[in-house]
Amino acid sequence: MTKPQIDQRYTSRTLMARLWHDYLKSHIGWMLIAFVFMVMEGSSLGILSYMLQPMFDNVFVAGDAGAIWWVGGVIFGLFFMRGITNVCQKTILTRIAQKTSTQMQTDLLDHLMRLDSVFFQKNPPGALMERVQGDTVVVQSVWAVVISGVGRDIVSLVVLMGVAVSIDWVWAMVAIVGAPLLVLPVYILQRYIRRKTNQMRQSAAERSTRLDEVFHGINPIKLNLLESYQMGRFASIIDRIVLAEIKTAAGRAMIPSMIDIITGIGFFGVLIVGGHDIIAGDKTIGQFMSFFTAMTLAFQPMRRLGAIAGIWQVAAASLERLYRLFDEVPTITSPSNPVRFAKDSDTTLVLKDVTFAYDDTPVLNATSLTAEAGKTTALVGASGSGKSTIFNVLTRLIEPASGSTTIGGTPIKDLGLAELRGLFSVVTQDALLFDETLRENILLGRSDVSEAALKDALDAAHVTDFLDKLPDGLDTPAGPRGSNLSGGQRQRVAIARAILRDTPILLLDEATSALDAQSEAVVQEALERLSKGRTTLVIAHRLSTIQSADKIIVMDRGHVVDQGTHDELLAGGGIYAELHRLQFKENAPIGGKNPLDPVNGGINTGLAHPDTSPKPSLFNRFAQRWFGR
Ligand SMILES: Nc1ncnc2c1ncn2[C@@H]1O[C@H](COP(=O)(O)OP(=O)(O)OP(=O)(O)O)[C@@H](O)[C@H]1O
Ligand SMILES: [Mg+2]
Repeated sequence: MTKPQIDQRYTSRTLMARLWHDYLKSHIGWMLIAFVFMVMEGSSLGILSYMLQPMFDNVFVAGDAGAIWWVGGVIFGLFFMRGITNVCQKTILTRIAQKTSTQMQTDLLDHLMRLDSVFFQKNPPGALMERVQGDTVVVQSVWAVVISGVGRDIVSLVVLMGVAVSIDWVWAMVAIVGAPLLVLPVYILQRYIRRKTNQMRQSAAERSTRLDEVFHGINPIKLNLLESYQMGRFASIIDRIVLAEIKTAAGRAMIPSMIDIITGIGFFGVLIVGGHDIIAGDKTIGQFMSFFTAMTLAFQPMRRLGAIAGIWQVAAASLERLYRLFDEVPTITSPSNPVRFAKDSDTTLVLKDVTFAYDDTPVLNATSLTAEAGKTTALVGASGSGKSTIFNVLTRLIEPASGSTTIGGTPIKDLGLAELRGLFSVVTQDALLFDETLRENILLGRSDVSEAALKDALDAAHVTDFLDKLPDGLDTPAGPRGSNLSGGQRQRVAIARAILRDTPILLLDEATSALDAQSEAVVQEALERLSKGRTTLVIAHRLSTIQSADKIIVMDRGHVVDQGTHDELLAGGGIYAELHRLQFKENAPIGGKNPLDPVNGGINTGLAHPDTSPKPSLFNRFAQRWFGR
């Protein structure tokens, strides 16, 4: 097993301090009120044990009948008070615990949404959901116990010890003589519990991830007969959770058990020493009973306090996981003094020597390109050549390692994130809808859209065409991730969103790829109308859709390898011409060779890749690079 690393930011002490500072401090008023109730409840036990002395010495031994009433009355009063204070104190603590844990959930979500997109590629949604829901609730369920324990039980213990010491401090010392023996084992157990709980929370996150993936991927699972494979993976995670839970519970139970043993030693000592004192006549039976009751009553709070040491470790493990998330800092943020982007300014998009890599995988290699304002620029290139990545650079979903990106000469880094993203409408390959009605999906929280404008957008995006087939028209729920709609319908909804957004820049990433040829033609026409006068970047695999673009940029492996109009590129005979010929199944041979005959002709992609020498599989590999996903 790897040795756990001790990070000073996540020790029990710092976690407690942060929790106090960030969440508990603001509830100080209610805590004080709860504390008063806890003090009342805690001290009642001390008073009870104290009352046993007059009970024995005045009532039983001296036979004072009058004392029966007031001693009995005081004891009844104590229990009555305990009943009331207990309810008050519990209600207040639940209020504090609920408010803080839900506050933590909102803060965490708020924080997570600010983090870079790359963070979400490294942390699966299931695991993050487990942190937002699971870990905050663990913390909440535990700190009520910790706070009430510390409040009520420490008070009880102090008062009871006070009673014990007031009767005989030597007896009191004898009673706690074994306590130092606890220090080391409790310390070791605490670390053990923390480690096991960490493993358990980690496995719980894996469980959520698995469930999330299973439910999202239910159709591929069914089609590939993966049910038993998924069950096997799930079962092994569950086994790990059970094992870690059992070990944690055993560790937690061991602390109060050790207190039992140590208390046994104390009782034994007190009986020996106290017994001799009574026989010698130095102490009364009432004093001994009072002392003995105080010790017995101290037993429960002591066990509970011991258990808190373990419970706190459970909370600390979750707190650590939460604070590790809070300590993630977004790198893509608005500048402190953002430049205002004046309305109607130039929106020419320029990328200059932009380099970007995912970890060690280079995606853009000194890419430079310009998309003229108000014109349509198309990006074509093999699957994986970095086209969508360019859209992500423009909208600052990712941050290039070097190079500059400007809009109308203004570096995008100088604009506020909201202002920058507000300039773009993006329609992507995988138009994602939310589990809300179509209307909500199109309006996206805007209330300033008139019914007429909405209808125009629906007509233009050809959403109207399928609305009457839906049970409730525009008020039909889209289903989880828009699953009640077909891929093509989802894309049309996304296009309607873009039309309503009415932004100066349009980014269309395979915006019509899921449409049939007929719908594509109409939607294409709508998009062309929409892009009039806007700076538009279009990514398309189907070249028929971009022939009329003002400029076509050809990309290959993160480089721009060619650019020009459709006619210029065709005439140039480079990679674009080859692609065009493949797509339109023109078999006219280039230079007298048949391009589909790899041995005698072969396809010259115009690129100096080392593997372009004719081989029997060349056509397949070429086609795969261009069309394969
Ligand atoms: N999150 C990621 N982590 C690692 N690599 C990634 C990630 N996203 C994309 N890539 C890689 O970046 C490269 C470019 O991806 P990009 O999405 O820009 O391609 P594309 O040109 O849009 O392809 P397509 O035509 O298939 O949509 C690909 O090789 C891909 O493997
Ligand atoms: Mg793409």
